[in-house]
Amino acid sequence: MGRWVAKLLVQEHAARRLPLADIHIESRDGRGRPAPPKALLRGAQCRLELAIAHSEHGATAALAPHGWTVGCDLTPCTAVASAVVRRFMTGHEQSWIAADAGPRAASVVWALKEATYKALGAGRPFLPAAWDGLAMLALHGVRLKPSAWRNDGPPIVIRSNRAVLRLAQSSGDVSAVVAFGPSPCGRNCLAAPAS
Ligand SMILES: CC(C)(COP(=O)(O)OP(=O)(O)OC[C@H]1O[C@@H](n2cnc3c(N)ncnc32)[C@H](O)[C@@H]1OP(=O)(O)O)[C@@H](O)C(=O)NCCC(=O)NCCS
Repeated sequence: MGRWVAKLLVQEHAARRLPLADIHIESRDGRGRPAPPKALLRGAQCRLELAIAHSEHGATAALAPHGWTVGCDLTPCTAVASAVVRRFMTGHEQSWIAADAGPRAASVVWALKEATYKALGAGRPFLPAAWDGLAMLALHGVRLKPSAWRNDGPPIVIRSNRAVLRLAQSSGDVSAVVAFGPSPCGRNCLAAPAS
């Protein structure tokens, strides 16, 4: 389903408008393992950066211009067990969750962890306890303050001159989209996630 959403998004944004049958989303490496997704248009790689995420509630995809990196994630709003927080969140993330104090703070942090990994992981293994999504965003000038967003509130977008973060609620999930770019970003640098 995520690849289907990605196809629709690519069809809408690609330079050439093609039938869906001519758009192929590839997200496995040569050995069949999960890999960053890419879009092929009639077999040729499309100059758009792509990210996909699924949850039990649905799927989403996000696009960014060539030269950027993009990541997205859907994390259910159900409470994350404190044992999971202790085991898989960095000390910095645990402090942020405590300071936010909202019931869904850990879901927000997890969504940022996975979305930033998808954008910046670059083939490294995903080691959640060592990958700090909030710190990755801060390194690129995007600082999410505790309590800045409640997942029952409207979406928020935070921009720096190198990155964009969008947090929203989507059918029982926290939806996070991040994009990191080489140049100051304009208003339209991030395609809205579909769901
Ligand atoms: C990225 C990852 C954390 C997402 O897992 P998940 O929470 O189960 O799944 P999500 O629904 O959030 O995301 C799945 C999508 O992420 C994308 N994806 C998979 N691996 C990815 C990666 N390394 N980077 C960016 N995106 C990736 C795929 O498009 C996938 O959807 P699809 O298979 O339908 O196309 C997981 O696939 C992973 O750990 N991948 C890396 C594996 C690894 O360590 N590789 C390095 C080997 S040295």
